[in-house]
Amino acid sequence: MTYRILVLYGSYRSDRMGIRLADYTVDGLRARGNDVELIDAKAIDLPMLDRMYKEYAPGSAPMAMETLAAKIRAADAFVFVTGEYNWGMQPGLKNLTDHFLEEWFWRPAAVVSYSAGRIAGARSNFVWHGTLSEMGMVVISSTITVGPIEQTLTADGKPTGDAGKQLDRAFVRFADDLDWWTEAVKLQRARKAPPY
Ligand SMILES: Cc1cc2nc3c(=O)[nH]c(=O)nc-3n(C[C@H](O)[C@H](O)[C@H](O)COP(=O)(O)O)c2cc1C
Repeated sequence: MTYRILVLYGSYRSDRMGIRLADYTVDGLRARGNDVELIDAKAIDLPMLDRMYKEYAPGSAPMAMETLAAKIRAADAFVFVTGEYNWGMQPGLKNLTDHFLEEWFWRPAAVVSYSAGRIAGARSNFVWHGTLSEMGMVVISSTITVGPIEQTLTADGKPTGDAGKQLDRAFVRFADDLDWWTEAVKLQRARKAPPY
């Protein structure tokens, strides 16, 4: 079955590395027949949070925010690709995410993390889990951790070396789990409309 999946990534750095994992994730989910879109926070470049989307009068939100709200509402599942800065989240992705709330509700979310070293973004991965749960998503237990990212993925997001082979193996189970939860939630949403 084809699911509409958003892959969200939020580094604003000129020399950013995480785009490799974002591209890899998009390619991997597409290869399974899904309709996948990369949501690149840097490209969308929402302002630092002032008003949330819902705080604008209908039709008066900035166009980029309006367009993104529609994409979030139409999605069946989300994958958050995160690196870590000083043990925490990357602010660009957090800023984009915080602009919305109800738009995220009642869908599964997965976290995929990376870093320059062997810790593989595990600490921000952990933090995102609680945040996405608070924001009304069902956070799946399967995750992907990539580190060091430079030794795992090429600049165009292709797996390389032994670490790349391990990533390919891990991705199958991860994507199967996301698929299961996406189907489960989609069926339930069709059976019974969410209460709000
Ligand atoms: C401000 C800053 C803080 C960082 N802090 C951490 C950290 O706490 N843990 C870690 O594993 N790597 C850390 N790194 C290294 C990142 O893992 C590495 O730069 C990674 O490529 C960042 O993702 P990006 O390239 O997509 O922006 C940090 C990098 C920056 C720029």
